[in-house]
Amino acid sequence: DRRTAQEALERLTVDVPDWPQEGVTFKDITPVLADHHAFSAIITALAAAGRDDHGNVVVDKVVGMEARGFILAAPVALALGIGFVPIRKAGKLPRETHAVSYALEYGEATLEVHRDAIDAGDRVLMVDDVLATGGTVAATQELIEACGGTATGVAVLMELGFLDPRSRTGDLPVSTLLTI
Ligand code: PRP
Repeated sequence: DRRTAQEALERLTVDVPDWPQEGVTFKDITPVLADHHAFSAIITALAAAGRDDHGNVVVDKVVGMEARGFILAAPVALALGIGFVPIRKAGKLPRETHAVSYALEYGEATLEVHRDAIDAGDRVLMVDDVLATGGTVAATQELIEACGGTATGVAVLMELGFLDPRSRTGDLPVSTLLTI
């Protein structure tokens, strides 16, 4: 259940100080992924964001954001019995895309989705590892809407509350296992 997933996440995530740059503490989730019980528990907990109170699946697609989001979103899609759609960094997708650029702390990033990956009217759940400034989620929501879909919410393992991501995600429902 959710509590088991939270405990595993707290126990196995490794804090790496001053990485990738000084003053930043990186949350390394690779030990969580390497533990079958922990991995399974976090996937079940994330997938709950795609179900209603009766356990019915209420979304049509799961999107994951490159790269760490892929690791979580694909098994969430399988757990829900629906399709997975990758949101990729610029220049990786071979066919027609929608693209959205957004500001990073230094510089700019662009995310893309295949135009035909999400159908008009699709209800779409976003899945990623960490919600930091919220820029990635806000850009992904724009991509979903550019395809004619609706973003129903985002499920993440961790939310860095001190970066105030909810100022970027507005009234989008956010499901978080751990708030830091
Ligand atoms: C990280 C993380 C999220 C995003 C969160 O990805 O996996 O996707 O940053 O940050 P934000 O809320 O400030 O947008 P990163 O760009 O490091 O890519 P990676 O998954 O390929 O390592």
